[in-house]
Amino acid sequence: MVYRVAVIGGGAIAEEHLLALAGMERAKAVAVADLIEERAEGLAGRYGGLSAYTDYKEMIVREKPDIAIITLPHFLHMTAALFCIESGVHVLLEKPMALDVGQCDEIIEAASRQGVRLMVGHTQHYIAENRTAKRIIDEGGLGKLVMINDVRNVYYFQERRPAWFFQKALAGGGILMNLGSHSVDKIAWLAGSAVHSVKAVTSHYGGKGDIEGSGMAFLHLENGVPATVSQSGYQGLARNETELVFTEGMLKLETGKALWLSSGGEYERVETDRQEPPFVLQLLDLIARIEAGDDSGSNSDAEASSDSVEWPGPSLEHSRHAVAVVRAMYASHKSGREEAVKDVG
Ligand SMILES: NC(=O)c1ccc[n+]([C@@H]2O[C@H](COP(=O)([O-])OP(=O)(O)OC[C@H]3O[C@@H](n4cnc5c(N)ncnc54)[C@H](O)[C@@H]3O)[C@@H](O)[C@H]2O)c1
Repeated sequence: MVYRVAVIGGGAIAEEHLLALAGMERAKAVAVADLIEERAEGLAGRYGGLSAYTDYKEMIVREKPDIAIITLPHFLHMTAALFCIESGVHVLLEKPMALDVGQCDEIIEAASRQGVRLMVGHTQHYIAENRTAKRIIDEGGLGKLVMINDVRNVYYFQERRPAWFFQKALAGGGILMNLGSHSVDKIAWLAGSAVHSVKAVTSHYGGKGDIEGSGMAFLHLENGVPATVSQSGYQGLARNETELVFTEGMLKLETGKALWLSSGGEYERVETDRQEPPFVLQLLDLIARIEAGDDSGSNSDAEASSDSVEWPGPSLEHSRHAVAVVRAMYASHKSGREEAVKDVG
């Protein structure tokens, strides 16, 4: 079967999904919706004459796609996901799952009730360097994991970033919510552990909107491993690195660029495993979950495992947890104390 896919939201990341779809055999794009008509029509024209809509609800009702990919601003994730789920359409929802844990729970509960498959687009799980690192970690040759340091610098306040990203009410937060959620996802997945508690400090010097421009967080993982997340959205040198320290060596991820390994001396580059592009793998993962044939909608990690993907992708519990950890970071900045992730609403 070839899955018919509709894309909701025609911005920057929609283009990545449509590019992936253009090269896939298992799925094809049929329609795209954006509030801005020229945007929807531009994408529809560029990707092989899709149907273009300005109203995504009308698109879902008329096109009856098998899968909807939701690439909307964060504050619209829940409404759009609920509409698709209630319409019986499987959903690939861009990260972060929603603005807060309560919204995540509503979406998860609806998917379970309707028996549709829902997956959050945690792209980190499908990037070649990350997957090779995960394999090396799980093989255990580097000994015991003792700490993780994740650093990302990117000029967050750049002109071309859409305005909604700078408003807390629309984005749920700033650089930590948008990019920190990638770090949390990556850390919890690579370490194979949820985060127990968080101490964080943010700064607000961006001069746009009401969001934080940097954040530094200390994470206690449930398996005892400590991790730091350092995100800066101010001017400077772009950097996106995750260093993992083990008892017998170290790994360094330059996300999407390279993987380095040291077993005592200088870092040496590791060849990554050959694979399909990340956005293709991600959609194949959702298709594998749909085809697992269980319509209970529980969307667990175990069910996510399939022949077409080497690693199970993120479970809904994992996606919800990523939101909870970022909210714990904000709560910790406000309280000045370490916050337990389970206490975050
Ligand atoms: N996985 C990744 O690596 C990655 C990278 C970038 C963005 N994202 C995520 O993707 C999502 C979208 O981000 P983006 O950078 O593409 O944002 P964007 O602002 O470029 O795109 C959002 C689009 O939605 C449209 N839109 C807004 N309200 C609408 C509505 N009611 N109906 C139809 N269209 C509507 C806007 O006009 C815009 O074109 C966010 O959740 C973001 O965090 C993920």
